[in-house]
Amino acid sequence: MLQDIQLTIVVENSATLDHNSLWAQHGLSIFLELKFDQKIMMLLWDTGASSEVMLHNAEELDIDLNNLDLICLSHGHYDHTGGLMGVLQHRKDRIVILAHPDIFAPKLKTQPLFKFIGLPVSRSQVEAAGAIMIQARGPVAIAPGFMTTGEVARLESFEKVENFWTVRDGQYCQDNIPDDQALAAVLPGKGLVVITGRAHSGIINTIRHAQKITGVEKLYALIGGFHLMDADDGRVDATVEALKGLDPAIVPTGHCTGHKAICRLQEVLGERCLPLAVGDLIQI
Ligand SMILES: [Fe+2]
Ligand SMILES: [Fe+2]
Repeated sequence: MLQDIQLTIVVENSATLDHNSLWAQHGLSIFLELKFDQKIMMLLWDTGASSEVMLHNAEELDIDLNNLDLICLSHGHYDHTGGLMGVLQHRKDRIVILAHPDIFAPKLKTQPLFKFIGLPVSRSQVEAAGAIMIQARGPVAIAPGFMTTGEVARLESFEKVENFWTVRDGQYCQDNIPDDQALAAVLPGKGLVVITGRAHSGIINTIRHAQKITGVEKLYALIGGFHLMDADDGRVDATVEALKGLDPAIVPTGHCTGHKAICRLQEVLGERCLPLAVGDLIQI
């Protein structure tokens, strides 16, 4: 049975004086230790934007990347996958990478200018560097009470994916980022824990989807990026209102959530909502 989860923020946009040897960079990577009755599982959720920052911070935080059991990727954007090759090349052994098949699709944005924002390496390059790719569209059970969400159902009218582009079947088209997923855990006696990367699917959609696939309604903890930094006031207000109703006990958030949304969440949730920074340790 899953007893508790310890999260260490390895890459994040912000640094504090508490950890002044760590480097901040736009991106996200979280090291998770899942504690079971007899065993601890070590998992890396995303790899930040660059190998240089990923490896520097992991070393400063005494995280031995050779001890990882698994790497999971939230989606294919560079700020969550750019450190992947560094992790693979640093390791002695091959390792399974769990992700959606679309992580290698071309990923583009056009605001303010056309820019490639996808995974900077190909599938054959990551496999040559030691990755064993497991690509699934739906949820994957990783351990008792712990899974990836797979593709997130888009149900909330205020959570739209905009301004991302791709090429599908030779056609340049809007990218609704089907590869976006989260981690969902069920902690006995506490409830549902949702750990996001960027939550391009919408943070409320992601929670509703995690509730559905786990069968657990009570949201206990919500951690990661909520993709609200460019959201209009209407979307921020609707998100804050929905989260108030869900009444989570722990909401550490950062990366793409944005100062405005974090302040609004703090007005409603008080100290249950905390801004993330590199080196933060969260015990759940
Ligand atoms: Fe992204
Ligand atoms: Fe991101």
